Amino acid sequence: MSQLSLAVDIAGLRLRNPTMNAAGVLGISGPLLKRVYEGGAGAVVTKSLGPVPREGHHNPTLVTVEGGVLNAMGLPNPGADYFVDVIRWLKGEGVPVVASFFGATIEEFRDVACTLSDAGVDALELNCSCPNVVEEMGMLGADCLNTEAVTAAVKEVAKTPVFVKLSPNVTDISEIARGAERGGADAITACNTLIGMAVDVDMRRPILANTTGGLSGPALKPVALRCVWEIAKTVDIPIIGCGGVTNWRDAVEFLLCGASAVEIGTAVMERGVEVFGMVVEGIRSYLEVNGFKEVKDIVGLAHET
Ligand code: SIN
Repeated sequence: MSQLSLAVDIAGLRLRNPTMNAAGVLGISGPLLKRVYEGGAGAVVTKSLGPVPREGHHNPTLVTVEGGVLNAMGLPNPGADYFVDVIRWLKGEGVPVVASFFGATIEEFRDVACTLSDAGVDALELNCSCPNVVEEMGMLGADCLNTEAVTAAVKEVAKTPVFVKLSPNVTDISEIARGAERGGADAITACNTLIGMAVDVDMRRPILANTTGGLSGPALKPVALRCVWEIAKTVDIPIIGCGGVTNWRDAVEFLLCGASAVEIGTAVMERGVEVFGMVVEGIRSYLEVNGFKEVKDIVGLAHET
């Protein structure tokens, strides 16, 4: 019988397999997140939660483009306090929960982290990389000193591992990752979406109400892989790959580049929650066919050639 195991350990967080949904995708309600877990994910990630409820940007907030999707949601969410009961319910259902969160200031990041940590999440994902920033907040994650400071502030109150989700819209993502690591990050999620835009030629204006949005889906994958590759060469903490994972081959590419797990976003919108089971089964077959016993056996292998 095969001794093969798909379980992974990310900074002390043990998951049954290396897949999660990307923040925002089906992350707005408990029952939807439970479906993600039932579809085969190793853990679920909430929509990014802030200190107070936010409506987000006006429509249109989403447009399909070649190779992916552009979104400019503007961080709509019901607020961290509202989500406390949802988190407790999910935990009662046996679902491992990663809470994605944000703030406009370092103090807000710390306060929200405290609320979510006290609610009993399994890990926190610090989102300092939303490309659709709104007037009152900048992108803290665009600067390595800010990233270090916000991570350190969150680590002071967090009772769980803290993943820091980085933006590809920077000159040197590995420098930002180093800042997060210095601040005490337990893992890096790479990466958030790439800023882009689409134009309506009949209306002769940008399609998104916010003008620009974040590109996700297959078109993002080569960029996200490069980010994981560079970060893996720079930091010693685990990496969670995110960006354009649609099938098991994509997931294995991220693992080979140095990711210990992957998040799946746009593909869930297109293929449903079954995508998790398909990706996990594909990883299992890949390990089996190639004589590996554990997921960690292939993490970073592409760096060794
Ligand atoms: C948004 O709500 O605008 C997207 C969130 C993100 O990319 O972090």
